[in-house]
Amino acid sequence: MSIKEEIEKRRTFAIISHPDAGKTTLTEKFLLFGGAIQTAGAVKSNKVKNHAASDFMEIERQRGISVATSVMGFEYRGYKINLLDTPGHKDFAEDTYRTLTAVDSVILVVDCVKGVEEQTQRLMEVCRMRNTPVMIFVNKLDRPGKDPFDLLDELETKLNIKVRPLSWPINMGSDFKGVYNLYRQHLDLFSPNKTSIETNVVAIDSLYTPELDEIIGRDADDLRESVDLVEGVYEPFELESYREARVAPVFFGSALNNFGIRELLDTFVEIAPPPGPKITGSRTVRADEEGFSGFVFKIHANLDARHRDRIAFLRVCSGRFQRNKLYHHVRLNKNLRFNNPYSFLGNEKSVTEDALPGDVVGLYDTNNFKIGDTLSEGEIMMFKGIPSFSPEIFREVVNANPMKTKQLEKGISQLTDEGVAQLFTLQPGNRKIIGTVGELQFDVIRFRLEGEYGASCNLYPLPIHKACWLTSDNTQKLREFMQRKSNHIAYDKDERPVYLAESEYMLTSAMRQYPEIQFHFISEHSQETA
Ligand code: G4P
Repeated sequence: MSIKEEIEKRRTFAIISHPDAGKTTLTEKFLLFGGAIQTAGAVKSNKVKNHAASDFMEIERQRGISVATSVMGFEYRGYKINLLDTPGHKDFAEDTYRTLTAVDSVILVVDCVKGVEEQTQRLMEVCRMRNTPVMIFVNKLDRPGKDPFDLLDELETKLNIKVRPLSWPINMGSDFKGVYNLYRQHLDLFSPNKTSIETNVVAIDSLYTPELDEIIGRDADDLRESVDLVEGVYEPFELESYREARVAPVFFGSALNNFGIRELLDTFVEIAPPPGPKITGSRTVRADEEGFSGFVFKIHANLDARHRDRIAFLRVCSGRFQRNKLYHHVRLNKNLRFNNPYSFLGNEKSVTEDALPGDVVGLYDTNNFKIGDTLSEGEIMMFKGIPSFSPEIFREVVNANPMKTKQLEKGISQLTDEGVAQLFTLQPGNRKIIGTVGELQFDVIRFRLEGEYGASCNLYPLPIHKACWLTSDNTQKLREFMQRKSNHIAYDKDERPVYLAESEYMLTSAMRQYPEIQFHFISEHSQETA
């Protein structure tokens, strides 16, 4: 197979959902259908049930030892699928946002009983920002859920995207009989089944065949009516609209019962986009270019105390990544060679000789990497679009053990490189402020600082409303604003100025008074120097 054909056969994606909608179950079923695992129960949930750092750390420790859970590769019908894992806890949403920069499409799981939940909406905003194609799987049809038409309306209004059902459920809950596949025009009949991946598919020539009445009885007329309505209300499915992220195809099923998974997966491999072009500060890089390039979207610390190394996850964007070849680390302007890069198959990892666009390689890291770093064959470029969102909770770090100042600094610096939280340095006084999206991250930071660096600190809450990155073409105005607000101006890790707004009111009045200044709520880690 030529490289171009190999790239065409790759599907790199993530499954996202509000906690409990069924992401872990669906992930596991995909691996089961892909033959990468043999039994259900093999994929560990990454859900933190108790709001406790120790619970989170234990899960991370176990998962850290088998980091392969971060990327699950498998083959299906000749396609090479890379499924990227995303955290199950909302406090780690930022990690999910970053993972979304490394995928070419996503499958969004929605619980048919609960409909669109808060986390689903936020995740979808990130997909829309990046124009990521989305397929929606409405799960738990074995439970009495919302009316499918109401659900579709809710998806459209709350997720702000057009939807197009490609399957249609025949009842729900205890009356659930199966789905009619509008894309392939066949019936998939349901029987509760948690162990087998067999499906009971019946091909029918038309919805108006009497055979339909024989199979599903009195529900046949309802199905005909609903399908007529669907065809009347929703525009015909067009591949381009999906790939351009304008329409999200919708499937119905029950992950727990292995139902609707095969048709989801079959359609997914057929229509989901292969690795596409990626934008850098200077140009767009095509996947089929000869020269290798890639970027780090995730860093996983090995929490096993005996191995203090980290693994940086690099998404290959173009060319062929090869073991033992020298690559250019753009930010550090130095060349690095990787003796033991990992690839991921099922939930196993193994040393790989090479990797192609769409693939993810795990690189042993001794503090060379931070999130957003680019590797190339020498070209000075930085991939764009690795966002930092304005944190929601801010704490000042105050050293609690003067004997361990160096360890504390090192720990804070490394943990923030990993993306656990964001670090801002407030002048004057060189005060260190940590910003996160959730409380749990502070517990994790304290826990890891003590466990891994022997450092301890106190974290004092600060009344900061938001962090906004500042840019302006008018340097004089920018300087004036920064002087006026000097007690609230900090610098992020890349030395970019940030306004730590005291309140919503102060922020809006600053924005009104200084129209020449742009206040950004999202920053991109991009330090291209060329
Ligand atoms: P998440 O990763 O999105 O957080 O969800 P997860 O797959 O862990 O699923 C959340 C709960 O929903 C689990 O039950 C799971 O068994 C259940 N579930 C998933 N798919 C279906 C489905 O199609 N139908 C029904 N009825 N339930 C489904 P749990 O009791 O929280 O966990 P467990 O003890 O079963 O693991």
